[in-house]
Amino acid sequence: MAKEQAIKKKTEKSSRQTLSAQLVLPEKTLELPIIVGTENEKAVDISKLRSETSYITLDNGFMNTGACRSAITYIDGEKGILRYRGIPIEQLAGNATFVEVAYLLIYGKLPNKDELALARKLLSRHAMIHEDMKRFFDGYPAAAHPMAILSSMICSLSSYYPETLDLSHPEDVNLTIIRLISKVRTIAAFSYKKSIGQPFVYQQDKLSYCANFLNMMFSIPTREYLIDQDVVDALNLLLILHADHEQNCSTSTVRLAGSSQANLYASISAGICALWGPLHGGANEAVIRMLQQISDEGGNCKKFVALAKDKQSKFRLMGFGHRVYKNYDPRAAVLKKSAKKILSKMGKNDPLLMLAQELEEIALKDSYFIEKKLYPNVDFYSGIIYRAIGIPSSMFTVMFALGRLPGWIAQWKEMVGDPDSKLGRPRQIYIGEKERPFVPLEKRR
Ligand code: CMC
Repeated sequence: MAKEQAIKKKTEKSSRQTLSAQLVLPEKTLELPIIVGTENEKAVDISKLRSETSYITLDNGFMNTGACRSAITYIDGEKGILRYRGIPIEQLAGNATFVEVAYLLIYGKLPNKDELALARKLLSRHAMIHEDMKRFFDGYPAAAHPMAILSSMICSLSSYYPETLDLSHPEDVNLTIIRLISKVRTIAAFSYKKSIGQPFVYQQDKLSYCANFLNMMFSIPTREYLIDQDVVDALNLLLILHADHEQNCSTSTVRLAGSSQANLYASISAGICALWGPLHGGANEAVIRMLQQISDEGGNCKKFVALAKDKQSKFRLMGFGHRVYKNYDPRAAVLKKSAKKILSKMGKNDPLLMLAQELEEIALKDSYFIEKKLYPNVDFYSGIIYRAIGIPSSMFTVMFALGRLPGWIAQWKEMVGDPDSKLGRPRQIYIGEKERPFVPLEKRR
């Protein structure tokens, strides 16, 4: 945290010293500070704009709005670069475990051996949920979407730990972080077990984070479940690639909810709901549905590419396009390579992988996709790997949530520790009726 503050102060100081922008309004001209990030990203600081001119800025979808300064994740969408705390995603994906990456995101450094051992011990210790919570699962209909279960169960955790919700005690915040990262896995696995009518499986302290999750998902009391190291590695990779992505929709939701001082469980639960939508985390499930549909209808990829370009149709190529990447999503690049490797290692031949590759090839040569800079995103190949390791498509977005959790926590922690943080509260341009009188019921037409 001290390092983050130092970087921020340095950035502020240098930008204050040098650059400013002029905004010429009909009534007056305003000098606005320019803020420069460590990677030379520039922003015009408009925080005083309204108080000094009564103007606000209008930016639907926050396409062009920076909501915070952050030292966690760097993306260069034009060049296809993604780094967590300065470390390229490709290096983390090839060398680290998910727990190491979670630590890196949340605490700003890779853990040393002792720190990692302690983190692992704590994650094992806090994996169980209160036995009463197991009964919650009985209340959901059999076809309940696991994201609905996950968001409400995570929020419910806050009612079991009211004594640790106070932000003024760092040790309570750390305990909450550990509880969340550990229990989210238990809740996710239990929701799957409930949906298929199998008994819940508890964690085993001797297993790693990802091996434990697989065991809780797939082992049954009547037979030994052999954990395949290739599958563990694939899961680590997937979770690492999803672990943070700066100010995306769900992360911004976590920050916004947290800015009201809602507790961390509630803020994460809000983020899970935001992730659910098909334009965000729900896209991984939608990609597999789309590929299946293409396959069921004869495998004509060209037809679906044409449909995606047709402005009369609502169809979009799921897993394509990104708000920030105007180049190949570096996560998709890693996953494309891994999907082939993992499938062949596991001796699996998924026709949907062939279809995905064909679809990508056609789209990337098409002028519509070239002009609009639409490339495969992280969700395009992730579902194919999840399928190969036995995760059902209804659980794909839950897997995204599991991966994104450390990022949400890191961003929340950064926000609550930032002296410049404020209650998130955008403004609007009102376009409704001017003032008009109330009409009594008997006089209304
Ligand atoms: N298929 C066809 N056309 C597309 C697609 C697509 N997948 N994505 C964008 N476009 C077109 C869009 O119709 C628009 O065209 P026009 O300028 O003629 O109106 C133009 O490209 C710009 O699209 P936009 O929706 O204004 O851009 P955005 O930055 O708001 O959208 C997006 C980003 C991810 C919502 C969008 O690309 C999309 O809907 N993709 C499919 C869903 C998807 O894969 N989502 C996962 C995102 S990555 C994981 C995550 O971080 O959540």
